Amino acid sequence: MLWLKSSLVAAAAWSMATAQQFDPEFTPTPIEYAVDTLARAPGCSLGDFWRLARTLSGQTEIYFPGETEFDEATTRWSNVGAPIANITVVPAVESDVMKVVRIANNCNIPFLAYNGRHGALTTLGQMEWGIAIDLRALSGVTISADGKTATVKGGTNSKVLIDALWAAGKQAVTGTCECVSYMGPALGGGHGWLQGHHGLIADQWVSAKIVTADGQQRTIDSSSDLWWAVKGAGHNFGIITSVTIKIFPIVETNWAITTLMYTGDKVQALYQAANNYLLKNGTQPVDLINWSYWMNIPPIDPTGPVIEFYIIQEGVTAVDTNYTAPFIALGPISVTNNTGSYRDVSAWVGISLDGPPCQKTGAANPRFPLYLEKYNPSAMGTLYQAFKEGTNSSSPFANSLFMFEGYSMQGVKAIDADSTAFAFREDNLLTAPLVQYTPGSAALDAQAKAFGNQLRDILHAGSGRSQKHTYVNYAYGDESKQEMYGHESWRASRLLTLKDKYDERRVFNFYAPAA
Ligand SMILES: Cc1cc2nc3c(=O)[nH]c(=O)nc-3n(C[C@H](O)[C@H](O)[C@H](O)COP(=O)(O)OP(=O)(O)OC[C@H]3O[C@@H](n4cnc5c(N)ncnc54)[C@H](O)[C@@H]3O)c2cc1C
Ligand SMILES: *[C@@H]1O[C@H](CO)[C@@H](O)[C@H](O)[C@H]1NC(C)=O
Ligand SMILES: *[C@@H]1O[C@H](CO)[C@@H](O)[C@H](O)[C@H]1NC(C)=O
Ligand SMILES: *[C@@H]1O[C@H](CO)[C@@H](O)[C@H](O)[C@H]1NC(C)=O
Ligand SMILES: *[C@@H]1O[C@H](CO)[C@@H](O)[C@H](O)[C@H]1NC(C)=O
Ligand SMILES: *[C@@H]1O[C@H](CO)[C@@H](O)[C@H](O)[C@H]1NC(C)=O
Ligand SMILES: *[C@@H]1O[C@H](CO)[C@@H](O)[C@H](O)[C@H]1NC(C)=O
Repeated sequence: MLWLKSSLVAAAAWSMATAQQFDPEFTPTPIEYAVDTLARAPGCSLGDFWRLARTLSGQTEIYFPGETEFDEATTRWSNVGAPIANITVVPAVESDVMKVVRIANNCNIPFLAYNGRHGALTTLGQMEWGIAIDLRALSGVTISADGKTATVKGGTNSKVLIDALWAAGKQAVTGTCECVSYMGPALGGGHGWLQGHHGLIADQWVSAKIVTADGQQRTIDSSSDLWWAVKGAGHNFGIITSVTIKIFPIVETNWAITTLMYTGDKVQALYQAANNYLLKNGTQPVDLINWSYWMNIPPIDPTGPVIEFYIIQEGVTAVDTNYTAPFIALGPISVTNNTGSYRDVSAWVGISLDGPPCQKTGAANPRFPLYLEKYNPSAMGTLYQAFKEGTNSSSPFANSLFMFEGYSMQGVKAIDADSTAFAFREDNLLTAPLVQYTPGSAALDAQAKAFGNQLRDILHAGSGRSQKHTYVNYAYGDESKQEMYGHESWRASRLLTLKDKYDERRVFNFYAPAA
């Protein structure tokens, strides 16, 4: 077992304080340092610790600061309010997740599941030390004999699942981005290309294996009171080591996209057209998806961000001209068409494995999400001006992106809104600025937060709503619990009751605490 390196066993009896007493020049090795860390954890009994550690499987790995593998396992996509770990454990089998949770509990050591490491909530920064439980080795997909379900291990990446199903002529609702885990988006509900047909990612679940705060591994399904909670507030209730999901035969192989690029003077007319011809109050055809991004591309327009508007259609080799004609009539700078299969769509919108958002570059990438029913064209005009000013060429935020995601909604709305912890099925659009910058000072972080909220507030004011609806998986970390989990009081009390029952000590509270 890699966990029990012989030097580590020897080090268990050793105390850094004692060593330093005899040799003030003494510098601990990373392993010595980590053991000392654990020994100083409040309430930790080293004897208990080692007894449990010895029961881990032979293939389970552990890494300490200073080791290349540790850095690789802890590098994150967004570097503001990031968690800090002192040890990375890579469980080789599902049952080891449970054992590591018991070890951590025994010693009162904070711990956090690490998966695709694209989680960017600043609440994660409340983890100031502890154990990273890296789920990367728990990767795999097994399709059932009847071809109606698949069991997906907790650390499986989205692209791995998409490809495994595709090879068998199957599809499932997954996130659109190839580099995030399957599980990360699902825990917050989860949006994907196929949600118009079947609902959110978590709506597809049939059963799950979850390690709860008491160190038990439970198998849960619709008969458990946890079932409602894991589908939308899942990060709060345990570590899911595998999940069985509904899968579907591939019906349409072809997909097509038309990408239109506009200058900022078209912003109001463009989003009026999106409301009229595409969104249509949540009745956007199920085979149609439209996204847009705002970003600075100085060679194309040095005077301000360009608008890249995507119209994506399933089951065709060219997007229906009925959909594109009103947008071509607005006079885009360019029109580009692409045709291919389902597996090409992520690359068309820049989020395939080699796309920029998949890279871990050291940047801070906070988002400030807001769900909306429809566009308010005049608010979009105001928003464009504010985004343009705040991302000018001398701003630290010049590389920021504004994302407008208009998925089809039929499958999502077909599911009873009260039946899951995901609270915002009535909304049709997911918007968020991604304020990208190179981390520097706390003052810069504060400036980014103020800018992101300024942008979000413009859209909120334009919505005419008093309350904000936000997507937990895009949240910045300053949203209220109601803004992430719903404003109905019964939701808050149900989450509180379940938290008290399953996670009384609030060990699963680093990612968007729900209660
Ligand atoms: C480029 C990009 C594209 C995205 N695309 C989509 C999309 O298409 N659809 C969508 O809905 N969202 C999308 N998101 C948002 C995404 O849902 C969140 O960023 C999500 O947290 C990423 O999961 P991760 O596994 O990569 O991140 P991590 O940081 O590894 O995980 C996030 C948190 O999830 C929890 N967690 C992870 N695995 C488990 C587990 N097995 N059991 C219990 N808890 C666990 C932990 O609390 C962890 O802190 C995208 C984000 C980015 C950056
Ligand atoms: C955990 O690691 C961090 C960062 O390396 C370090 O500052 C902190 O002292 C460590 N915590 C403990 C308890 O050793
Ligand atoms: C996408 O198209 C739908 C359906 O026409 C429309 O309702 C929605 O507003 C569009 N979304 C975006 C982001 O343009
Ligand atoms: C939009 O649809 C919702 C139901 O989903 C309905 O309550 C609302 O009145 C509609 N709005 C308009 C402007 O038609
Ligand atoms: C792109 O596709 C649209 C819709 O099918 C069509 O109207 C348009 O002429 C095409 N443009 C180019 C440049 O091929
Ligand atoms: C496109 O428009 C034509 C003419 O209005 C109509 O006959 C046709 O059904 C439309 N196609 C779609 C897919 O909406
Ligand atoms: C450029 O951006 C910076 C930082 O966001 C901002 O303070 C400044 O006012 C902007 N300048 C202009 C001319 O808009």
